[in-house]
Amino acid sequence: MASISKRLEGKVAIITGGASGIGAATAKLFVQHGAKVVIADVQDDLGQSLCKTLSKNFTNNNILYIHCDVTRDSDVKNAVDTAVSKHGKLDIMYNNAGISGGSSSSILATDDETFKRVFEVNVLGAFLGAKHAARFMIPAKRGVILFTSSVASVLGGNASHAYTTSKHAVVGLMKNLCVELGQYGIRVNCIAPAGIPTPLMNNALEMKEKDTREVLRAVSVLKEVVLEAEDVAEAAVYLSSDESKCESGVNFVLDGGYSTTNMAFLSALNGMKMNSRHTNNNHVSNGFSALDD
Ligand SMILES: NC(=O)c1ccc[n+]([C@@H]2O[C@H](COP(=O)([O-])OP(=O)(O)OC[C@H]3O[C@@H](n4cnc5c(N)ncnc54)[C@H](O)[C@@H]3O)[C@@H](O)[C@H]2O)c1
Repeated sequence: MASISKRLEGKVAIITGGASGIGAATAKLFVQHGAKVVIADVQDDLGQSLCKTLSKNFTNNNILYIHCDVTRDSDVKNAVDTAVSKHGKLDIMYNNAGISGGSSSSILATDDETFKRVFEVNVLGAFLGAKHAARFMIPAKRGVILFTSSVASVLGGNASHAYTTSKHAVVGLMKNLCVELGQYGIRVNCIAPAGIPTPLMNNALEMKEKDTREVLRAVSVLKEVVLEAEDVAEAAVYLSSDESKCESGVNFVLDGGYSTTNMAFLSALNGMKMNSRHTNNNHVSNGFSALDD
């Protein structure tokens, strides 16, 4: 029986976008849980250095970095073929690589090339990962395919049009695959995190990590909680391990309750109350007296 602390003992996993942020945190946790991990990314220096650090810290020779642009069929094929030829199988394909396409919420300011690029990485890249993994998982009649969607897959207005649309598409792909591949015993799920202070988020907001963190803390429904890449990694371990053997077709929202509410009402209300205190506008302050502190 697998030890309780090593929940992925002997499993072979590929993590795209594994050099940074969520992917890097997941690579580390997967290794801690006994998995053999292939980190696939385009940031070669970062990926190789992570690989070296993890191999040293966990005295594990089964961590590999592969250059893989997820928008290129041949790169994805090569990553999957390499994992299988080295380890004889592929248990987990985590399609996590993604880009934000900036933070602009204006359709008029969204250029076609950015829109296409976001789809290429976020949707085509996810599709290619699933397709090449399925070549080996179907005959093996087992496997786990995982995607990082986003809270933008269940909420509008929080990200660029390209990003929100692409993440809805990833959930559509996951649902279709869940039905098709379920007959072979392959489970397919998404993790949908809210904002996390990774390079992707910092760049989209054009903020330093410290400031991103403050914004995320301010909008959090769970008091003082900022979601971290490590929290997504924990969800990925669960969804990749045999503990979740009945979980398939799920867009696992990880947002501390963020998507259950719409803070706009309270924020507008508080803004009006502040204004009314400053200007001593009795009409407004009386109107909301029942809600006053
Ligand atoms: N950070 C957030 O707030 C947040 C929230 C919800 C979902 N996500 C999603 O999480 C995933 C990981 O993002 P992150 O926040 O860890 O950002 P990140 O920028 O730290 O990591 C993304 C990784 O993807 C890689 N990548 C980009 N284009 C690639 C390509 N063509 N081929 C291979 N790799 C490529 C990058 O090199 C990088 O290492 C993305 O899909 C993102 O959309 C992020």
